[in-house]
Amino acid sequence: MLLVCTLEDVLCLSSRPETCPVRASANMGLESVTHVVSENNSGDEVLELLEKQNGICRTEFKAALVDITWFTESMGAGKPLQLENRHRLQVKRVAAAGTIAVPVSSHACQRRTTLNNRNRLFTDALKILAENAELSENEGRYLAFTRASSVLKSLPYNVTKMDDLKGIPNLGDHSRKVIEEILEGGTCNEVQNLIQNERYQTLMKFTSIFGVGVKTADKWFREGLRTLNELRASKIKFTKQQEAGLLYYEDLILPVTKVEADLIQQIIEEAVHRFLPSAVITLTGGFRRGKEYGHDVDFLITHREEGREEGLISKVISWMTAQGIILYDDTMDNSYHKWKNKESEIFDRFAKCFSIFKLQKMVHNLEPSGTCSHGSLATNETRGIRLAGHAGSSQHLTASAAKDKDWKAVRVDLVVVPFGQYAYALLGWTGSRLFERDLRRYAKHFGHMMLNSHSLFDNKQNKFLLAATEEEIFAHLGLDYIPPQERNA
Ligand code: UTP
Ligand code: MG
Repeated sequence: MLLVCTLEDVLCLSSRPETCPVRASANMGLESVTHVVSENNSGDEVLELLEKQNGICRTEFKAALVDITWFTESMGAGKPLQLENRHRLQVKRVAAAGTIAVPVSSHACQRRTTLNNRNRLFTDALKILAENAELSENEGRYLAFTRASSVLKSLPYNVTKMDDLKGIPNLGDHSRKVIEEILEGGTCNEVQNLIQNERYQTLMKFTSIFGVGVKTADKWFREGLRTLNELRASKIKFTKQQEAGLLYYEDLILPVTKVEADLIQQIIEEAVHRFLPSAVITLTGGFRRGKEYGHDVDFLITHREEGREEGLISKVISWMTAQGIILYDDTMDNSYHKWKNKESEIFDRFAKCFSIFKLQKMVHNLEPSGTCSHGSLATNETRGIRLAGHAGSSQHLTASAAKDKDWKAVRVDLVVVPFGQYAYALLGWTGSRLFERDLRRYAKHFGHMMLNSHSLFDNKQNKFLLAATEEEIFAHLGLDYIPPQERNA
């Protein structure tokens, strides 16, 4: 049963039920509807029905979606009762701007965030402010802008006026001002100034080099360095990682396509199965969340018989290096047993390799200019890339800028996981980063549990909770399961 009513109706019905003209359809003006009452329907079903049958646009619909119990209780009380959470219908995808169906959670891990970002104009601006805060090592400010951007990404409607943000959490005064300015004039001055700012531009460029963090980039900037060529010509003693980062810079800043990620998976499967035939290789990170492009490719490797994976990473990397597949690697063994304080670290202790792969393009000369926008990649997507020949070594600091080269350098992370920790590793490596951060924060503050990519420790029960699947981990935490495609927070 679906009943569309105004508060007046409820008043009238509760006092004089025999004379009240209850409107059982939405033929009345949309403005006058205050409540939609339903029995045995979720909020999503109700909205769908209203959209289909009455042409109501959910983004403009402001009425409360309530369960029949609110209606009957109001009748019993002789007046419309104050709405309580238990009266509200569940709307998984938040109903609409201004509706009061289900509040938007302030935890990214309790929101469903797909790749369909309807508020890119605002989130792009907030991202730039977040980046600048990160470059200034202002963690609080970075988080504030990142959380504001994230909550906007989760909204199933375009924000067109400030009123659309009523009741939306994680939007501080500064973020609201940015949104307001964009709503009024299309841009935000602070963001426009930042884009032109020399420090911002230079630090963004330097930190996009593999192996260069904010502190190093800032130091180079303060020493007067501004361009990659100046870095390359300088006397700076680079780390091995930075050397590789500069050597393959022009390739590494190109987005990696899903087609490339799939091809890399085939290469890795071939290599891993030489040493451990039934090992399982899973594509994770952004690609598992449904992204078509990434800055790198992340894989988990495991084997059903725990222990069989030990020593695998070095064998695989040595073999691939000998084949010329690996241009750079930073390989480390599993050090979980040495981890004293198992909850406090951000990084995990799995055996892993941060590498740069050499992929040969099947179609020659895909990016004539050496750079490629997201747009042009869409057409390149169908073109294949296969395993390259021997990598060789180049002393030249711009190896990947060379015109006519038939290969592309790609960042690949390989993580070898004991089977018993696989579900935790999969959850931890699927991201997004904010989703993971909030999941851990939620576990700590609301569940009194410590979550990381190895395990979940319950402080109250004083024991580790086992999980074979991600669904079981969400259940341990008392959270609705959010599939990877909805973790793009
Ligand atoms: P990425 O940095 O690869 O991000 O980390 P991404 O979401 O795949 O995005 P792009 O497309 O590459 O830019 C993937 C996940 O792996 C975890 C991060 O928390 C992130 O959620 N991660 C990454 C680790 O746990 N440890 C690491 O050393 C790196
Ligand atoms: Mg990634």
